[in-house]
Amino acid sequence: MSASSHQPEVEDGIEVVPLTAAFCNVASALHAEGFEDQDCWSADEMIALLDVPGAFGFLAFAPGNEAENRLDIPLGFIQMQAVLDEAEINTIVVAKEARKRGVARKLLSATFDRLRETGVGRVLLEVADDNAPAIALYRDCGFAEIGRRKRYYRRKSGREVDALVMERDLGACVLGWGD
Ligand SMILES: CC(C)(COP(=O)(O)OP(=O)(O)OC[C@H]1O[C@@H](n2cnc3c(N)ncnc32)[C@H](O)[C@@H]1OP(=O)(O)O)[C@@H](O)C(=O)NCCC(=O)NCCS
Repeated sequence: MSASSHQPEVEDGIEVVPLTAAFCNVASALHAEGFEDQDCWSADEMIALLDVPGAFGFLAFAPGNEAENRLDIPLGFIQMQAVLDEAEINTIVVAKEARKRGVARKLLSATFDRLRETGVGRVLLEVADDNAPAIALYRDCGFAEIGRRKRYYRRKSGREVDALVMERDLGACVLGWGD
């Protein structure tokens, strides 16, 4: 995977690789694009996050084509923190032009595989209660609401937004999305 300024196109397929320090500049740019109304993570902050024991992530990209002189195109990433048998989704973001094409679903699938391999049975996350696409994604991928944190997020405008706390048991069988 190499960085590129092309617009994301996913018709060539979606590939997923571990998120390493080498990709943190790309991931930081995706994060800024995905969270325009929040403070975003710099590449250095991401490298520090990935350095914590139990932290990992995946980067999705559309593979380029050497013969056609096309570079790989970054599509999105997920960053996770596992502690013992639980894990939390710190963030997941997909480039605007690549949304609604299964990129987030693929990132979550790779993440669940990795968590199962390492004996993690429960995944938790917080999502702003006004973030309908993300809530729909999580519900679609087997998460259920288990709580609410009042005024958990503060937007750049100063507006405060509740967070929904969602959970998924990785041992549960969810039909229809093939993770
Ligand atoms: C939320 C986000 C990651 C979804 O990424 P995505 O690649 O577009 O999601 P997918 O294409 O894999 O969608 C999988 C499922 O999620 C649901 N979904 C995703 N986006 C949706 C939308 N805009 N409206 C309704 N449902 C949506 C659908 O059920 C979809 O399945 P379908 O395509 O078969 O209908 C993306 O919109 C994003 O980056 N948003 C900004 C950052 C963000 O809010 N991150 C979450 C923070 S908690």
